Amino acid sequence: MKNFTSDSLRETYLSFFESKGHKRIPSASLIPENDPTVLFTTAGMHPLVPYLLGEKHPAGTRLTDVQKCVRTGDIDEVGDDKHCTFFEMLGNWSLGDYFKKEMIPWSYEFLTSPEYLGIPVESLAVSVFEGDDTVPRDEEAASLWLECGIKPENIYYLPRSANWWGPAGTTGPCGPDTEMHIIRKPKCSPECNPSCNCGAFMEIWNDVFMQYNKTEGGTYEPLKQKNVDTGMGLERTLCIMTGAKTVYDTDLFEGAIAKLNELTGKGYLDDEETTKAYRIVLDHTRTATFLLGDVKGIVPSNTDQGYVLRRIIRRAVRYGRKIGLKDGGLNEIAKVFIEKYSGVYPELKENAAKIAQELALEEEKFSKTLEGGLKEFNKVITHIPGKVFPGKTAFRLYDTFGFPFEITKELAEEQGFDVDKEGYEKAFAEHQAKSHAGSEQKFACGLADHKEETTRLHTATHLLHAALKKVLSEDVAQKGSNITEERLRFDFNFPRPMTPEEISAVEDMVNDVIKQNVPVVMKEMPADEAKEQNFVGLFSNKYGEIVKTYSIGDFSREICGGPHAASTGELGKFKITKEQSSSAGIRRIKAVLIKD
Ligand code: ALA
Repeated sequence: MKNFTSDSLRETYLSFFESKGHKRIPSASLIPENDPTVLFTTAGMHPLVPYLLGEKHPAGTRLTDVQKCVRTGDIDEVGDDKHCTFFEMLGNWSLGDYFKKEMIPWSYEFLTSPEYLGIPVESLAVSVFEGDDTVPRDEEAASLWLECGIKPENIYYLPRSANWWGPAGTTGPCGPDTEMHIIRKPKCSPECNPSCNCGAFMEIWNDVFMQYNKTEGGTYEPLKQKNVDTGMGLERTLCIMTGAKTVYDTDLFEGAIAKLNELTGKGYLDDEETTKAYRIVLDHTRTATFLLGDVKGIVPSNTDQGYVLRRIIRRAVRYGRKIGLKDGGLNEIAKVFIEKYSGVYPELKENAAKIAQELALEEEKFSKTLEGGLKEFNKVITHIPGKVFPGKTAFRLYDTFGFPFEITKELAEEQGFDVDKEGYEKAFAEHQAKSHAGSEQKFACGLADHKEETTRLHTATHLLHAALKKVLSEDVAQKGSNITEERLRFDFNFPRPMTPEEISAVEDMVNDVIKQNVPVVMKEMPADEAKEQNFVGLFSNKYGEIVKTYSIGDFSREICGGPHAASTGELGKFKITKEQSSSAGIRRIKAVLIKD
């Protein structure tokens, strides 16, 4: 097998697909556009969803790229040798162009040819979809692999749980796939197959044959065009090709580890605790560098992506402290990553000043609270009878000292305590309800100011959203919203301009609910319950799973932070002033409320 560096591996992949007529496109942002169902770009296909659904891509029907991705679902597991919150995915796409009979031989060529990866064919196993009630067994993929030279005993038929990919969020393009695996050691039993996690197989590449669109109702409808979507994890493939035990043993981390040694006087492999702390600092600093340095760069905050970023930076600071990393240390590590990656991701260098500033700021904020919070934590924990850390105390640490719940949990667990998460969530929800009541009182006493205007337009936005779903399609979903004192602006997915009749029907429907003077009712509940009750809105995977819901009779149900008008009678007359295209597959409406 050939030896590789991260740079030569990226280049080899992209130029192979260029030689097959593909256009190289740059990595898209880590912040998904128009997809409220996920916080970050999690796969190469994610930014291409509109094109997989049928929009024309300006670069054509054959594309290849290396896409930066962030997955934070398993953030608490970072520190072992497998999990990273940031990774790069090599991929190539057919947008209604080639399909299985081209893709499978190309995969085989890239994996086995001495010009490319040069993996011996005996070391390769593949899995294909075994079929179910809706989609037949993929005999075509299996026979293509046989023709290439994969031995029959190395072809496995597996169920949907193993050989079906997507969608990236809750809806969108998906389909059966065929996965390629390296055989690393003898099988653990005769039944062992690539979906077993005994370590006999390691996935290297995934070819998805995207033929379906999963709708909001949960059904699978055939796509207009047949696509191919493939994904090869850069880090994992680099490990396979270089024999590195973990991604931290590859050239991607070499410089950053050397810098960390220099700053702490320690060594990556000194002892288990040190290794874990090193990995967390390295992984989280790299992810924070990419998030802050993204073209749509985000900054630490208390909501959505910003909160994940805050958690990542704070966890890095805390583990950095354990190995003696001083304030400013994360920035030294970030600089090494910026140097290492700027050739592929030039935005990092362009945003270097912002990365440095935000990292320093967050580190400083957290250092202050960490000291006070740790003192408080150490004081209270000695007084707790039993081994359950009270949720209320965890909330106080968050509210007063800016201690994210996860940090309290980690600290408590280190001392053998469980944390009462439910109690924490309850305290959190009570606090939110109180501050909401406070802001409503202020509204009631104050004169009509611009806040009241925007509040009314906000309620009108919910009515508009519900009316669009009823008039156009249940699949319509909010893709963006912006409210000023004068007007609301609402983006939603829909493939064509609305007709004048549809526009009038939506206006009439909204005005009808306004006339009925329906009360707007706020209720807090666990996110799962809201989902069950069909509230629409953003279900993120962030902590504090109590959500605020707003219902307007049976007409509209949304997850939302508020504030809203008390009842629809306050709104005045609703009028759509513009209906236009916003971007591929997305329409934009502007509307106003006219005083009666
Ligand atoms: N979208 C596929 C994956 O992420 C290729 O594995």
